[in-house]
Amino acid sequence: MARVPLAIVVAVSRNGVIGRDGDMPWKLSTDLKRFKAMTLGKPMIVGRKTLDSYGGKPLPGRPHVVVTRDMTRQIEGVQIAGSLHEAIDKARAIALDIGADEIGILGGGQIYRQAIDVADVLYITHVEADIPDGDTVFPDIDSEIFEKVSEEAVPAGEKDNYPTRFAIYRRKIAAN
Ligand SMILES: NC(=O)c1ccc[n+]([C@@H]2O[C@H](COP(=O)([O-])OP(=O)(O)OC[C@H]3O[C@@H](n4cnc5c(N)ncnc54)[C@H](OP(=O)(O)O)[C@@H]3O)[C@@H](O)[C@H]2O)c1
Repeated sequence: MARVPLAIVVAVSRNGVIGRDGDMPWKLSTDLKRFKAMTLGKPMIVGRKTLDSYGGKPLPGRPHVVVTRDMTRQIEGVQIAGSLHEAIDKARAIALDIGADEIGILGGGQIYRQAIDVADVLYITHVEADIPDGDTVFPDIDSEIFEKVSEEAVPAGEKDNYPTRFAIYRRKIAAN
């Protein structure tokens, strides 16, 4: 099967937090617009809890593969996978079918922890805030493995809680 690149897409606070109480601990409208533009039309991989945080439904315009140990679960409009590797195989088949050039891995914490070992690129929105009471974190980015190739400062707009920096990291050492 063709090797479509795997891209982690995430927003992370200064202290590594990505979630709190099953949701994101901020409102970042500017970043959401970028996120939508970057992900539309591409296959997405999400953990079951992240799908729940979307209200149990996939984001429109993006085919989803949901990772869960409950293979009896049926969710309209999504494929189910029993492991991250199965999800990657299914997402690659979808990508081939629809001609997508990238697969988005959208979290959450459990999925990022597993996916960082195989991801080719990281699209990281660094949120310029410390979130002391977060309960879900992103793993450390190993600079031996990923190099930052671009970074853009994004001031807080009217509907953003914080300013951000949007950075792209590419894998420099091949994944196993
Ligand atoms: N800041 C961001 O960019 C961002 C992005 C996404 C999510 N989030 C936040 O992250 C939090 C959710 O993350 P989370 O870590 O709690 O959950 P998660 O990673 O979204 O989902 C965890 C679930 O995925 C399934 N799973 C994980 N590993 C598996 C494996 N190896 N095999 C089979 N199934 C597996 C299990 O589902 P079952 O229990 O069904 O078996 C597990 O309970 C929320 O607060 C959300 O808002 C933040």
